[in-house]
Amino acid sequence: MLLKPAVTDFPIHELLAHRWSPRAFDVAKPVSREQVLALVEAARWAPSCFGEEPWRVIVWDRARDTARWQKAFDCLAEGNQAWVKNTPLLIAVGADPQFGHNGKDNRWAQYDSGAAGISLCLQAVALGLAAHQMGGFDAQKLRDAFGIPAHITLMSMIAVGYQAAPDVLTGEVREREVAPRRRRPLGEIFFEGGWGVPIK
Ligand SMILES: Cc1cc2nc3c(=O)[nH]c(=O)nc-3n(C[C@H](O)[C@H](O)[C@H](O)COP(=O)(O)O)c2cc1C
Repeated sequence: MLLKPAVTDFPIHELLAHRWSPRAFDVAKPVSREQVLALVEAARWAPSCFGEEPWRVIVWDRARDTARWQKAFDCLAEGNQAWVKNTPLLIAVGADPQFGHNGKDNRWAQYDSGAAGISLCLQAVALGLAAHQMGGFDAQKLRDAFGIPAHITLMSMIAVGYQAAPDVLTGEVREREVAPRRRRPLGEIFFEGGWGVPIK
């Protein structure tokens, strides 16, 4: 795998440092069934408020069902289609906003679904794959295309596959692929003891 590890201020686990959101994928390398199942299993074991498991996940494996993969691909924003065209696997993550046990609003549903999404992404890294989450898609189009119930909040689509060298990309997308990864300074948004007090 081609890595662009995070340059961290303090050491972190390599699985976390190696997770990133690349755009260069190898169109010739499908993801195995075992890998697909490991990805969803990782998401399944995410923590959730009340153990509700509010995430709802749909997988489209290009090698198994090209037509449905294409239908999901067609829901992506143009800017994303430019690089997702090389990925073998697409995944959508939604959130059920109501608790099953009492029908009340579950205001943690999106938080928990994000946890399931990142679990899946980290499992991808552990398997030697890369995963790239996207908010740039037409949620209504995806809903209509796959009969996703109206009450499910569609959160993200995730492209997964084997990474390729940046030369499979062109233009601005390629530039972003090779640009350094950045984060805000730690103390700007991580506080200790009170709001706005930078952790040191
Ligand atoms: C909810 C969400 C939506 C995102 N939407 C897009 C997107 O539509 N297109 C894209 O190229 N990247 C998208 N990204 C990827 C982010 O741009 C990326 O995570 C961020 O720049 C940090 O880079 P890193 O993941 O490589 O550390 C999204 C990430 C998240 C978590």
